[in-house]
Amino acid sequence: MPARLDAPLKVTGSAKYGVDHNFPDMVYGYVVVSTIAHGEIESMDVTAVKSAPGVLGVYTPFDPLVMNAAMSPSFGETWVPLRSKKVVYVGQPIGFVVAETFEQARDAAMLVEVGYRQLPALTSLPDGLATAEAAVPAHVDTPPEIAVLADGVESIEDALAASPVVVDATYSTAPQHHTPMEPHSAVAVWESGRLTVYSGNQGANLQAVELATALELDPAAVRAVNPFVGGAFGGKARTSAPAFLAAAASRALGRPVKASLTREQVFTATAGRAATVQRITLGAERDGTLVALRHDSWSSTDIERSFIEPTSHGTSREWYATPNLAISQKVVPLHLPPPTFMRAPGEAPGSFALESAMDELAEALGMDPIELRQRNNSLAPPGKDLQWSSKHLDECFRIGAERFGWAERSPRGRADGDWLVGMGTAVAMFPALRFPASVGITLNADDTADVQTSGADPGTGLLTVLSLVGAESLDIAPERITPRLGDSALPPGGMSGGSTATASAGTAIMAGAAKVIDELLALASAPGAPFAGEEVTYADGRVHGGVPGDGRTMTFGEVLRAVGRPSLTAVGSSAPGEEMTKHSFSSFGAQFVEVRVHRLTREARVSRMLGVFDGGRVINDQAARSQLKGGMIWGVSAALHEGFEVESSGRFANADLAGYLIPVNADIPDIDVHFVEYPDTLHNDIGARGLGEIGTVGMAAAVANAIFNATGIRVRHIPIRIEDLL
Ligand code: MOS
Repeated sequence: MPARLDAPLKVTGSAKYGVDHNFPDMVYGYVVVSTIAHGEIESMDVTAVKSAPGVLGVYTPFDPLVMNAAMSPSFGETWVPLRSKKVVYVGQPIGFVVAETFEQARDAAMLVEVGYRQLPALTSLPDGLATAEAAVPAHVDTPPEIAVLADGVESIEDALAASPVVVDATYSTAPQHHTPMEPHSAVAVWESGRLTVYSGNQGANLQAVELATALELDPAAVRAVNPFVGGAFGGKARTSAPAFLAAAASRALGRPVKASLTREQVFTATAGRAATVQRITLGAERDGTLVALRHDSWSSTDIERSFIEPTSHGTSREWYATPNLAISQKVVPLHLPPPTFMRAPGEAPGSFALESAMDELAEALGMDPIELRQRNNSLAPPGKDLQWSSKHLDECFRIGAERFGWAERSPRGRADGDWLVGMGTAVAMFPALRFPASVGITLNADDTADVQTSGADPGTGLLTVLSLVGAESLDIAPERITPRLGDSALPPGGMSGGSTATASAGTAIMAGAAKVIDELLALASAPGAPFAGEEVTYADGRVHGGVPGDGRTMTFGEVLRAVGRPSLTAVGSSAPGEEMTKHSFSSFGAQFVEVRVHRLTREARVSRMLGVFDGGRVINDQAARSQLKGGMIWGVSAALHEGFEVESSGRFANADLAGYLIPVNADIPDIDVHFVEYPDTLHNDIGARGLGEIGTVGMAAAVANAIFNATGIRVRHIPIRIEDLL
């Protein structure tokens, strides 16, 4: 069995993604997007479009497809295209042209003439957001603030004023995009009043509900299928514009419709990551003990205020022990595409600020950055009573320092020929969550078993996890398990997001396996069955009779055949429960980076990196490692490559894969990933806490800290470019 079941299919090109599906009479849709950032569509002239060759349908806000606002089970109201003449960003879907061929649809779409009434647009965060002098702009919302103060302390300002050492710095992070390899796309097919949509997304059953709401259908009449997803990272949690449009147009035209965003449209007609500005103020004793921590954040959001990048208080809050903590989070609505969850939402940009500031504090104290972090290790989230269920961050640092050769680090870096070499470190942390999930377990008469859930595998390895945990729970070889996922017709597995899928689905598998084994034993010992009236047990995929040592056993397949059953199915479900009242849950890690900055050209290159992670039990070593490596690469990308260049018009100047920089192989050295493995059965029965997103957390700060170590230059924004190091 390959370490990743889907690997051979993916590398040979035989995995069928959404738009790889073809049907007789299928036609093609092309999305038209806005070219202004803010205004009202006054007219859309589609006369030429309608008479263009092959055109079958032209849909605009003046002549829309029949769709409602969609309610998502996870996200509330989900944006459905073409329902408004209001334009609130460049690249917003405003039309849909369907034709016999893709080329005809694309050609015709170019003929749409749009008349706008243009309005002033705000397309970047105002300067000086974090300075006391800056007037708070009227467009800034203020969600509730969080403050924890020690007894007798009046305010965070007092606590900071009383601190012997203070670091006060403002950091900023660029707006980003998930840039999944598979563009958001769909094929929609209607058959006898039932809709099937093939579209890469993070949760088939959730997409089916959203589509049913938008199209006013019985949820049972909608099937969403996504056995393969070409990257998602939070950007495919909601139903995409092409999926809504293809489904509605297919209904209107009575033909299967295929639609995909172009690469450029992916950057705007879907959601990305907000820009942030974060001011961190740390107050400490001279020995490094934190006295006070203040974290004020401003993040961009869309005009509808649909998402707040939770830099400082989403789910994990801050991660150091401190008697005084103050957190505020403000949003600035801009005329830019909406932000949404993007891998380690909040923690990724938040950790750049916090972990850079901790490095600045270590510098101010003349203290080793690891020692400073260990001194402020927390037993529980600040201001909360519930202790972490399992935390081995100190061990991560101990092992990491040893493996990485941290002892060689000098406070002022070192030179190697023309290269200035520095080392940096940072804490990684990501909350351990679980979502409700159901998994069906079927024992078959041929001694195989099926493990099935609607949940998605967006490259995370869930398919293999179903097989491995299924095999373990049924006590049979993984080769005998047939895992299936990515189909809303299967038991509802919820969303692959929040680094939860292994813990959520895994726990449900265990529950389902226990149930199906109970039913098997009841069947085996029922009157007339092979073990009638006996005390039976289950092990090794076999039912064992009640007389110990008499050796009478049958495989589950033999039992099923004996009682004339082709199969036996049970559905197991799991959801967060009582454990939430007993402990706090998080995964932890220590990131290490070595950077080389060229003395003359000032280019910065990551030359070594190591992550040591404490994420509970590892179910599939290869998949877990690969998730973490991907996350760490993403962190390097955030630090040195990625970011939208927003023109004042609100257009992205680099909305393509040539201009939107992400690392290539030459940018990434060998990556060392190490696990300290303490199964966390306080969190869930399989003891796995989730490793999907933590890999990126802390990395950008570790790179910036290594650059400081190498050059003495502290860069407080990402991405860090050559011009920052001149
Ligand atoms: Mo993710 S940002 O948990 O899909």
